[in-house]
Amino acid sequence: MRFVFDPHSSPVPAEDRAERILDPGFGRVFTDHMAILRWSDAKGWHDGRIRAREPLTLDPATAVLHYAQEIFEGLKAYRLDDGGTALFRADANARRFRDSARRLAMPELPEELFAQSIEALVKADADWFPAIEGGSLYLRPFMIASEVFLGVKPAGEYLYMVIASAAGSYWKGGARAISLWVSHDYTRAGPGGTGAAKCGGNYATSLVAQSEAIRRGCDQAVFLDAVEHRWIEELGGMNIFFVFDDGGIQTPPLTGTILPGITRDSILTLARDEGLSVREELYSIDQWRADAASGRLVESFACGTAAVVTPIGKVTGPDYEFTIGSGATGQTTARFLSALTAIQHGRAPDPRGWLKRLS
Ligand code: PLP
Ligand code: COI
Repeated sequence: MRFVFDPHSSPVPAEDRAERILDPGFGRVFTDHMAILRWSDAKGWHDGRIRAREPLTLDPATAVLHYAQEIFEGLKAYRLDDGGTALFRADANARRFRDSARRLAMPELPEELFAQSIEALVKADADWFPAIEGGSLYLRPFMIASEVFLGVKPAGEYLYMVIASAAGSYWKGGARAISLWVSHDYTRAGPGGTGAAKCGGNYATSLVAQSEAIRRGCDQAVFLDAVEHRWIEELGGMNIFFVFDDGGIQTPPLTGTILPGITRDSILTLARDEGLSVREELYSIDQWRADAASGRLVESFACGTAAVVTPIGKVTGPDYEFTIGSGATGQTTARFLSALTAIQHGRAPDPRGWLKRLS
C-alpha cells in the first residue's frame, strides 16, 4: 500500500506562500496538498493519495454530520538547524489514533499507513515550513464516517485524511503566561465516556465552557472531574502540570477521562531523567488555591502539541481568583519548554529516538 502522488496543478505561487508563512499564527494557513485514504467493509483500506487540498463534497446524510463519528490527531514536523526535517514521536500519535478509533467503533488505521501518509505529505509540502522561531508544520490527521445512512450504527465507510498547516504560536500575540477559568458548571468527560479518545465530540462539548472563560476575561477553561466536581482534569486542548517548592512536579493521572498527552508523557520522562520527584495523582481545586496562597505551589503550566509548554499565571473561579507565583513564567516551566524544544529541533541529545528525521 502506498500513497500515490498527484501533484497540485496550480500550487500557491512562491511569493504568495512566503507572505502567508511569515506570521502564520495557528490553524489558518494551509499547504497545497492533503493525504486521503478510504476504507470500506468490502475493500478495507484503499485508494491512498497525496493530492491537491480542496473542499470535500458530502451528501447531507453522511453519518459523521449527524452522529459525530470522527477522530483526529495533532502532531508537528520540525525544521532542523541543519535544514533537514523531522517528526517528534509520530509513532505515539499513530498508536493513539488506533486507540481513539477503537473507542469510536471505527476501523484501526495500521501504524505504517499513518506514518506513510504523514511522511508523504510533509515531503510534498516541505516548502511550507515557516522560517520563524518555534515555527513548524502542524499536521492534522483525521477520520470521518462517510457512509450515507441515518441509522445509528458504526458506519460501513470511512475517509481518513491529513491536512497540514504552517504554525507559529498557538497564542495570539505570541507565547505568554495564560489565565484560566475554572469550569464548575460544565464537565468535559465522565467515567466510561470518551475523555481519553481524541474525538471531535469532546471539543464540541468543551466550547460552552471556553466561551464562558473568554467572557470572564480568561484565555482557557480548565475542567474538573464529572463525579465530584473537585479534581482538576485538563484544559480543552492541553494537559496540566503543577510545580512545588520542593522542586517536585505533579499532573493528574490517566484514569480514562483525560487525553493521554504525548507532551505530558515526554515531560514526565524528562523530569524522571532529571531525578525530580514526579507524581501522577489527583489534585483538587481547593488544594490548588491553598497551595498557591501558602507558596507551596510555585508554578503551573499547560502542555500539548499546539500549546507546547505554556505557563499559567492566574486562575479565576465563580467567587475566587488567585495568582501563581509571580504570575509570569517560572524557572521549571522555562526549563521544560527549552528542553523539549531543543530535542524537537535536533539541538539536544535524543537518547530515546523521539525524533525521526525525514530529510
Ligand atoms: N488534552 C487535550 C484535550 C488535547 O486536545 C491535547 C492536544 O492534543 C492534549 C491534552 C495534549 O496532547 P499532546 O501532548 O499529545 O498534543
Ligand atoms: C493539539 O495540540 O494538537 C491539539 O489537538 C489541541 C488543540 C489544537 C485542539
